[in-house]
Amino acid sequence: PVKRITVPQIAARKGDTPIVALTAYTAPMAAMVDAHAEVILVGDSLGMVIHGLPSTIGVTLDMMILHGQAVMRGSARAMVVIDMPFGSYEESPQQAFRNASRIMSETGAGAVKLEGGARMADTIAFLTSRGIPVMGHVGLTPQSTLTMGGFRTQGRDQATWPAHVADAQAVEQAGAFSLVVEGVMEPLADQITQAIAIPTIGIGASARCDGQILVLDDMLGLSGRVPRFVQKFGDLGPRAEQAIADYARAVRDRSFPGPDQTYR
Ligand code: KIV
Ligand code: NA
Repeated sequence: PVKRITVPQIAARKGDTPIVALTAYTAPMAAMVDAHAEVILVGDSLGMVIHGLPSTIGVTLDMMILHGQAVMRGSARAMVVIDMPFGSYEESPQQAFRNASRIMSETGAGAVKLEGGARMADTIAFLTSRGIPVMGHVGLTPQSTLTMGGFRTQGRDQATWPAHVADAQAVEQAGAFSLVVEGVMEPLADQITQAIAIPTIGIGASARCDGQILVLDDMLGLSGRVPRFVQKFGDLGPRAEQAIADYARAVRDRSFPGPDQTYR
């Protein structure tokens, strides 16, 4: 069997060729991503992207574990990282360990990801010192959109930069092996990337980061409206809709099933 990419291998990619990361939520999509990416993230974005939730707040631990199991079955080489959902880790380091250990043992994934900087440092240290690799996530943190009042690009005000850099350093010092930096201005992404020795993986955070991640469905054109930082590398949504329309017409005019699809 192919050996999975390890935590030290990802950590060692600081300043090296960019880390390629994408989300996946299902086995067949994970299999496609596995051939091209070093990191597959089972993001809690799955709540909005495939479950129709209004935000990531309603995503549960059981949903993350179920999709994490599917992604592990579909992949062989990439490191699979699973998001800790809202409410599963914020209460205490002990709560975080209890739930992160469920994710790790029930899925076999390589790491968990959780949102927050300095405020989560104790929790990250508690997990990493007990054998659970943690990927951090700072900048725009979608699980805080209720308190922040929406999805806001971070670092527009230069006065906030030191606090953002301090958050990244706190995550690094707590033992995280890499850090997602989301929705920040380019000079702040640059400062954060230079301030820490673990690789930064950017989303809406410029090319200054040590790697990039996007939501797979967004970049395939399978989601509706996407943020400006998304480049659509494919346009699968309209093509899927056309295929469905063609099927409906073929059923109605009895051209499907035809001779090729019929057992005689
Ligand atoms: O949930 C998610 O997909 C994420 C990435 C976009 C970083 O957290
Ligand atoms: Na997420």
